[in-house]
Amino acid sequence: MASAALTFILIVSIFAAAAAICHPDDEQGLLSFKSGITADPSGILSSWKPATDCCNWSGISCQAPNNRVNSISLYGQLDKPNSYLSGTISSSLSKLRFLDGIYFQNTRNISGPLPGVLFNLPNLQYVYIENNKLSGRLPENLGNLTRLYALSLEGNGFSGSIPSSISKLTELSQLKLGGNQLTGTVPDGIRQLKSLSLLALDRNKLTGSIPDFFTSFSNLRVLRLSYNRFSGNIPASISSLAPVLAYLELGHNLLTGRIPDFLGNFRALDTLDLSSNGFSGTVPKSFGNLTKIFNLDLSRNKLTDPFPVMNVKGIESLDLSYNGFHLKQIPKWVSSSPIIYSLKLAKCGIQMKLDDWNPSETYFYDYIDLSENNITGSPVKLLNRTNYLVGFGASGNQLKFNLESLKFPTTLKTLDLSRNLMIGKVPKAVTGLQSLNVSHNGLCGSLPPTKFPSTSFVGNACLCGPPLAACKV
Ligand SMILES: *[C@@H]1O[C@H](CO)[C@@H](O)[C@H](O)[C@H]1NC(C)=O
Ligand SMILES: *[C@@H]1O[C@H](CO)[C@@H](O)[C@H](O)[C@H]1NC(C)=O
Ligand SMILES: *[C@@H]1O[C@H](CO)[C@@H](O)[C@H](O)[C@H]1NC(C)=O
Ligand SMILES: *[C@@H]1O[C@H](CO)[C@@H](O)[C@H](O)[C@H]1NC(C)=O
Ligand SMILES: *[C@@H]1O[C@H](CO)[C@@H](O)[C@H](O)[C@H]1NC(C)=O
Ligand SMILES: *[C@@H]1O[C@H](CO)[C@@H](O)[C@H](O)[C@H]1NC(C)=O
Ligand SMILES: *[C@@H]1O[C@H](CO)[C@@H](O)[C@H](O)[C@H]1NC(C)=O
Repeated sequence: MASAALTFILIVSIFAAAAAICHPDDEQGLLSFKSGITADPSGILSSWKPATDCCNWSGISCQAPNNRVNSISLYGQLDKPNSYLSGTISSSLSKLRFLDGIYFQNTRNISGPLPGVLFNLPNLQYVYIENNKLSGRLPENLGNLTRLYALSLEGNGFSGSIPSSISKLTELSQLKLGGNQLTGTVPDGIRQLKSLSLLALDRNKLTGSIPDFFTSFSNLRVLRLSYNRFSGNIPASISSLAPVLAYLELGHNLLTGRIPDFLGNFRALDTLDLSSNGFSGTVPKSFGNLTKIFNLDLSRNKLTDPFPVMNVKGIESLDLSYNGFHLKQIPKWVSSSPIIYSLKLAKCGIQMKLDDWNPSETYFYDYIDLSENNITGSPVKLLNRTNYLVGFGASGNQLKFNLESLKFPTTLKTLDLSRNLMIGKVPKAVTGLQSLNVSHNGLCGSLPPTKFPSTSFVGNACLCGPPLAACKV
């Protein structure tokens, strides 16, 4: 009886001990990875010690029934200068045969190539190697990972073209390759990735037209293609994304033609960025149906009047700057938004007295840019109603007021009131700003000591003192 109990305890403890010890291949693979890391100032890998249970190392998780390592998660923090890893990714990670997830996020300084052998790991489903310094071409055998559910290599230095074998990753739900140096055109094979809910190829050097292959994507919610060199029109097949697409970002490319009417049917659209392209013609009237749009950026195109009547209840950020618009007034649907925080209407042909503008909410504003319009009066009342304003720009207007009466929100960092009709002195309060421009006004008197260059102050009748000429005594 006693001996049976003892045997039982023995068996249980042997079993527990066995279960706690990681597989030698996993330990070896991880220690080789660690030896490829040349700097770890915050000790992210300090618990990775030989002859201890690797399943208990930080960032490692193992899975029943065989207790093999199934994921490695190493996270740095972008706002903490020491939480990074330097070195390269050892190809011995391929010893971890049961790996299903690799997460190296924001570790910033991991460099070198992405070892192609990783893409022969049969169970790999999640690869997030984001914000590091990996470089070289994307491995051609990327297409081996037919079970891959998410692939993000965002924020590295990968170059060359997107391998055509990517068409074999038909289970992919997320594909994020943004923020690299990728060149060439978008491979047509991406049309095979019918389960995609997120496709982000932004911030690369991709060329050619945006492929007309969007009829196959019934789940696509996010499409980011901004900051590339795409040319041509918005393809017609994008219209089939209308039921679910929430984010459409095509800004900073070389796109031309008219904004298609069908975009007005995108009832789920939350963010639309078409900025800095060559779009021309008018904004379609159908935009009146975009009742859920929160962020709309059409700035820096060649769009012309009339701007359609919008029926959105709460726009959060709007930028229509530098087109051919003559809005005359700040539109009512903007002034009535209860949640707006960023408004940019530079060179929009606005003619008004700023004191007459009475937006229903000003509290949340952090950016207001009304530069290059025909706005008179004073911003004193407006700025007194903001609490979190970070930037205010109204250069190139006819604002006429005493700068000393302006109350600077404590959050304010940039102020550009150049080329107006301001009077008074430059108050000491400007010293806390990061950038200031009050050039070409009617200011007078001696300047407070600041770090701003003379171009911030030139063109005022009688301002004096450094960085301008000394005051006459
Ligand atoms: C796991 O690691 C922690 C600290 O890193 C340690 O306190 C604990 O004893 C370890 N457990 C095992 C079973 O090794
Ligand atoms: C980043 O990695 C490179 C190459 O391994 C190394 O030369 C550099 O010192 C590292 N930077 C930091 C801040 O550790
Ligand atoms: C992976 O890709 C390489 C090169 O494309 C190929 O030679 C190899 O057979 C593939 N392995 C598997 C398991 O599919
Ligand atoms: C908005 O949608 C409705 C229903 O689809 C349509 O009848 C109407 O013409 C659209 N409005 C505009 C301005 O396009
Ligand atoms: C600016 O507005 C004033 C007063 O409404 C008008 O006389 C002037 O022509 C306008 N200037 C421009 C450039 O539109
Ligand atoms: C600024 O706002 C405060 C309180 O809301 C008010 O008492 C004050 O008169 C305002 N100042 C100006 C210059 O509008
Ligand atoms: C200030 O504005 C003027 C004209 O708008 C511009 O020429 C100058 O470069 C600006 N200076 C600074 C420091 O921004």
